Amino acid sequence: MVDAGNNGKDLIVFEGVCKTYPMGELEVRALRDVDLSIKKGELIVILGPSGSGKTTLLNLIGGMDTVTGGKLTVNGQDISHLDSKGLTDYRRTQIGFIFQFFNLIPTLTALENVEFALELVENDTHDQSMRALEMVGLADRADHFPSQLSGGEQQRVAIARAIVKEPPILLCDEPTGELDFETGKNVLKVMQRINREEEQTIILVTHNSAIAEMSDRTVRLHSGEVAEISRVEKPKDAEELVW
Ligand SMILES: Nc1ncnc2c1ncn2[C@@H]1O[C@H](COP(=O)(O)OP(=O)(O)OP(=O)(O)O)[C@@H](O)[C@H]1O
Ligand SMILES: [Mg+2]
Repeated sequence: MVDAGNNGKDLIVFEGVCKTYPMGELEVRALRDVDLSIKKGELIVILGPSGSGKTTLLNLIGGMDTVTGGKLTVNGQDISHLDSKGLTDYRRTQIGFIFQFFNLIPTLTALENVEFALELVENDTHDQSMRALEMVGLADRADHFPSQLSGGEQQRVAIARAIVKEPPILLCDEPTGELDFETGKNVLKVMQRINREEEQTIILVTHNSAIAEMSDRTVRLHSGEVAEISRVEKPKDAEELVW
């Protein structure tokens, strides 16, 4: 069988993807001719200096932004040119997003923050949301408000919120950027468990190259181009990471 690099198992496929932003008379080329295939269940770490295009890449996969050249296929669907309704549906069914700043709603409890993600989709949000909080080890903090939680606990609520709809793809932009070493490691352990047990595909952007050791593959971006893709022979347990 001819393998065009796009066999059935590839979940996310970039083909010659470009992203430029207009800047007055000029344009910023945030991504240039990116070719990249990501398989279902992979844990990918994206590294690269500030401004190299990491967040842009994540936002394209997340349907928060659209390509200006090339083609981006997710789960067999060409999302390069979806209209805004198409993108909303795509985001709602395929994507969970975790940010550096946890973005919890301060006036809602941990449980309510997770339920909020389901509100438009489901009627009975309680049990499902409690299960997500259990997954991240926070069932006993369900009634706490964000201000009553540590940074690591808030980030785990954010993870519960991102996974409660069981999206096939979890996108994380500097999820440990605001956390100390131990707390960051705990958050990574939760992500690794979700990746291994639920077979969710995780794409994690970070400045911290130590985190790459827990990935299946590491992608280095430089000036909007893929500079290197390396496979990690034996991904480490998050517990073993040191930085
Ligand atoms: N909305 C925008 N309008 C104009 N230029 C943008 C926009 N978003 C990003 N850029 C530019 O595109 C390039 C890539 O930005 P991006 O945010 O993807 O970098 P990054 O690798 O995530 O950086 P960092 O590590 O600092 O978060 C940068 O030069 C940035 O200034
Ligand atoms: Mg960024």
